[in-house]
Amino acid sequence: MRPAAQRGAAQSVRPDGMIGSCTAMQALFRGIEKVSLWDTPVLISGESGTGKELAAQAIHRASERAQKPFVAVNCAAIPPTLLMSELFGYERGAFTGAAKRKLGRIEMAQGGTLFLDEIGDMPLESQTSLLRFLETGRIERLGGTESIEVDVRIISATHVDLEAAIAAERFRSDLYHRLCVLRVRQPPLRERGGDLMLLAEHMLAGVRKESPNRIRGFSPTALRAIQQHDWPGNVRELINRIRHAAAMCEDGVIQPEDLELAAPAEERPLTLAAIREAAEQGAIVEALQRNHERLIDVAAELGISRVTLFRLMRDYKLQVKKGDLGLVCVQG
Ligand SMILES: Nc1ncnc2c1ncn2[C@@H]1O[C@H](COP(=O)(O)OP(=O)(O)OP(=O)(O)O)[C@@H](O)[C@H]1O
Ligand SMILES: [Mg+2]
Repeated sequence: MRPAAQRGAAQSVRPDGMIGSCTAMQALFRGIEKVSLWDTPVLISGESGTGKELAAQAIHRASERAQKPFVAVNCAAIPPTLLMSELFGYERGAFTGAAKRKLGRIEMAQGGTLFLDEIGDMPLESQTSLLRFLETGRIERLGGTESIEVDVRIISATHVDLEAAIAAERFRSDLYHRLCVLRVRQPPLRERGGDLMLLAEHMLAGVRKESPNRIRGFSPTALRAIQQHDWPGNVRELINRIRHAAAMCEDGVIQPEDLELAAPAEERPLTLAAIREAAEQGAIVEALQRNHERLIDVAAELGISRVTLFRLMRDYKLQVKKGDLGLVCVQG
């Protein structure tokens, strides 16, 4: 019989290519559905490699603008000196080398969605021009005088803490409030529980198709190593390690060293007390997520007093941080 993660993998791939069935991802999918119904700007936050671009595309495809263009601009990848002309375009003769008119990405997205990726890295000069566009709905190409009306929905994404960037005067707070009307938070891989295995099996199935070698699967120690790793690079890191492992493994069975992961710590049989604690901690985490950080409701659901709930949360190092769209993030 195939392992549970493998059996579940096929059903968990959504039409938008996103995989996930854990509570955090279900909440994300519901958030995406809700924001797709609106035409207001959305800010997607999340660590690197958590799927922000995938989420932006999913919002666009589920929105009324789905048949119109989705245009992405990576504000970190374009040199600051070129960003203005990339965004706003230019007229012929606007500067040396401007041999003919070029449309900017804002104009290219006419009627559709403009995805401003890594918005936290946008230079202040471009922030000012972008803000002006958001306020007026109009742009002027560089070197031009015509004011052009552009109707786009803005989705932006960032892995940097924009509130900290505002405090450091690297990001305009008025722009932040324009961009961040609705918010979606991508959970990091370490908050996705069983989805880690689901993703690993799915990614391996994809790599298997391209692989010149016969890949049979992960060894049990490799599976434990995957579960124990912290995944700072999130889904992208997982994909890269699996690709590397598929090329490196020798007899078709992927070992921790093929994934360049540390050998997993030996697992000792659990004591009854440890099993009880893990179950208690799991029940609290799930109740917190279900009840959107309302501790009164969590205590009521679990049939304990609030004082007991506070004590248990302290013992298990659980912290509730206000999430987005009412989502709850629990950190150990
Ligand atoms: N839930 C998911 N299911 C399947 N694939 C995913 C999922 N999340 C991310 N990926 C894949 O992981 C990779 C990284 O995703 P993406 O580029 O959307 O992340 P990101 O948050 O924009 O990363 P960065 O901050 O580095 O730009 C992509 O190949 C994407 O297809
Ligand atoms: Mg990205």
